[in-house]
Amino acid sequence: MKTVPLNNQRLMDLLCKSDSISNDIKKLDFDITTLSHNVTPAFDGKSPYGDEYLNLAMEVDKREFGFPRHSRGISQIHTENDSTLVDIHTRLASYARRVAVNIGAERNALFMVYPPGGYIGWHHNGNAPGYNVLFTYNETDQGWFKYRDATSGKVITIQDTVGWSCKAGYYTPLNDGDSDSLFWHAAHNDTWRRTIAFVTPDKGMWSAMIDQIADGDIDISSF
Ligand SMILES: [Fe+2]
Repeated sequence: MKTVPLNNQRLMDLLCKSDSISNDIKKLDFDITTLSHNVTPAFDGKSPYGDEYLNLAMEVDKREFGFPRHSRGISQIHTENDSTLVDIHTRLASYARRVAVNIGAERNALFMVYPPGGYIGWHHNGNAPGYNVLFTYNETDQGWFKYRDATSGKVITIQDTVGWSCKAGYYTPLNDGDSDSLFWHAAHNDTWRRTIAFVTPDKGMWSAMIDQIADGDIDISSF
């Protein structure tokens, strides 16, 4: 996973337009606990973004953790079946499409808005593999993205920065090895945060997206 400089002003202007969706989600006055999305196994109450949870998740059938089983936040997945959130659902989806068109992405994987205390539990996306680009906004630096480096086995933390940031990496396919080879990742935040994620199977398309985001000011060969 590498950081990509956000040098494209047109893209930055578009990213900032997601403020209004985030602000309207804040006004929904949700009980934060009702935002939780939980699917067993819960591993006896272990924190879904903690190291113990990761170790336990890696021991069960790897197909169980392609998608996150625990999260606290609002994405299109959470809004699509809630009649009170039709407007938010439509806006999340149409906004994500606009960003996808702007950077030349084939499809949007996720647009998620996390309240303070939000998280996405350990998972690997090996069931939807490919080259990814993640845009993150945090009001403060109080949040992080963690991933398990498949080569060293170490968990690496990428601390949020204030405002927008961008990361790019690769989700290893489920069938390319055992649990150790997958791109396990999780995120947690103490202040409002949002992430817009894109995935493509095509490395050339991914390189072109990164080049556009960095406005040419990046060495693609280092990725
Ligand atoms: Fe993910």
